[in-house]
Amino acid sequence: MTGSGINDVLLSRTRNARVLHESGIRRPPLGKTSRVADELGNELAEVVGAAHVLTDPDTRADYETDWTGRFGAPSRLVVRPATTHEVSAIVRICARHRAPIVPQGGNTGLVGGGVPRSGQVLLSLRRLAAVSAVDPIGRRLVAGAGATLAAVQRAASAAGLEFAVDLASRDSATVGGMVATNAGGIRVIRYGTMRAQLLGIEAVLADGSVVSRLSAPAHGNGGYDLIGLLAGSEGTLGVITRVALRLVPAETERAVALIGVDSTAAAVRIATGLRGLTVIDALEIFYADGLALVRARSGLRRPLESEWAAYVLAEVAGAGAEMRLGSALAALGLDDVALAVAPDDRRRLWSYRETLTEAIAAEGVPHKLDVALPLDQLSAFVAAVVPLVASYSAAARCVLFGHLGVGNLHVNVLGFAKDDRRVDDAVLRLVADLGGSIGAEHGIGAAKRDWLRLTRSAEDITAMRSIKRALDPHELLNPGVLLPPAD
Ligand code: FAD
Ligand code: MLT
Ligand code: ZN
Repeated sequence: MTGSGINDVLLSRTRNARVLHESGIRRPPLGKTSRVADELGNELAEVVGAAHVLTDPDTRADYETDWTGRFGAPSRLVVRPATTHEVSAIVRICARHRAPIVPQGGNTGLVGGGVPRSGQVLLSLRRLAAVSAVDPIGRRLVAGAGATLAAVQRAASAAGLEFAVDLASRDSATVGGMVATNAGGIRVIRYGTMRAQLLGIEAVLADGSVVSRLSAPAHGNGGYDLIGLLAGSEGTLGVITRVALRLVPAETERAVALIGVDSTAAAVRIATGLRGLTVIDALEIFYADGLALVRARSGLRRPLESEWAAYVLAEVAGAGAEMRLGSALAALGLDDVALAVAPDDRRRLWSYRETLTEAIAAEGVPHKLDVALPLDQLSAFVAAVVPLVASYSAAARCVLFGHLGVGNLHVNVLGFAKDDRRVDDAVLRLVADLGGSIGAEHGIGAAKRDWLRLTRSAEDITAMRSIKRALDPHELLNPGVLLPPAD
């Protein structure tokens, strides 16, 4: 809700470029211009122009390391098309050369799915950024895959409507990437994930053919749900080039409360109580250690009179928002609460939550484990995960926060080498033991594919493999992502 994420996002990405440099990958001197290196590059340059085929390591660097600095490797080259036609031509050429492709949008993904693993072609979709005129009657718009969430939000708002998904990475994350990861975000409790906003899609398949379901009405029926299938496919089934998105009426009133609680169990009780009393737009949780990191970095003052073990942030929207939230808080007997209605005050409360990602990344390269638990297991999980992480190293830190209303916790582990996966293994096994899911809103990516079997059955994985083989028989699209290695 702050709209101020971009500077931090860009800052951290600059830092990541430094991490890549420090990791021993040699770079030629600065100032070299892009030069097309091989036959594949020459063919691609025929399609997009030489200026949009990047072969020089310095110009490629920002595309090759992920936002966290944990994942990435040199690409074969970076190619930047501007139209669906160009994407189709690129995929055909790569298919002929059997050159694997990694699609990339804003590169804000947190599971290493949008950066090369080893020498793939990096296909950047950012130039497909057009946002069409909003259809106010059908409440929809069509956007290029490379349009940022912020651009879509601006277009919707200019027409008196809203786009229902919101993320702190809004200034960089693209709608193509958000569909590919089936992103959730801070309003998922009310409106669901990206899949629920998708009215249509246009995508380039692994043979270069284009499937388009952009013009069908929302209730259009007939055949398999290709739109739903591409949502959450993480670049492994097709390259998304355009999407038709559902819009919702803009809410004119909003109220936000920050509530101090002494335990995760109390937070869950409050979440359940609030949901029983009114419609909730956002219901988030963070803990004292995360708040301390945010405050040390931002200089923000203590948000409540007392210090608490955990904090619940709740937002209510629509007519009588302040009154509805206020009376729900009173009914639950909550007293150490900050209630904000004016936009600046709401933004200030949200900034305690929305700047956590950057505050954690500023401490080191985190292992980010985005997981979901049944709400009645959340407290047990939190009680177990902190000592579990600490048992691996005295230097380990485990900072938790997340989307409380849907049981989606972000486990951020600091103090481990990038490729030390012991702690990832331990945390994901704990999640599975408690009946949770090892992936929630960030996708599986390269980071968690080796653990997919913990929460997906052999039959489920076989079915997914069959779909992958049918649509991408030569494993051209994002190999090494989502599906676990074959036995
Ligand atoms: P990328 O990182 O570029 O790619 C992500 C994946 O999608 C990769 O597998 C890539 O191959 C694939 N992909 C990208 N574009 C296409 C395309 N056009 N066609 C096919 N495949 C494609 N996520 C949430 O869900 N909720 C949050 O609240 C949230 N908050 C965040 C806050 C911060 C500060 C940051 C840095 C990240 C946050 N994220 C969040 C994670 C991230 O922003 C989302 O995963 C987002 O959806 C990624 O979009 P992107 O355009 O950056 O995709
Ligand atoms: C969030 O909810 O802020 C994000 O998903 C980002 C993160 O996990 O760091
Ligand atoms: Zn999140």
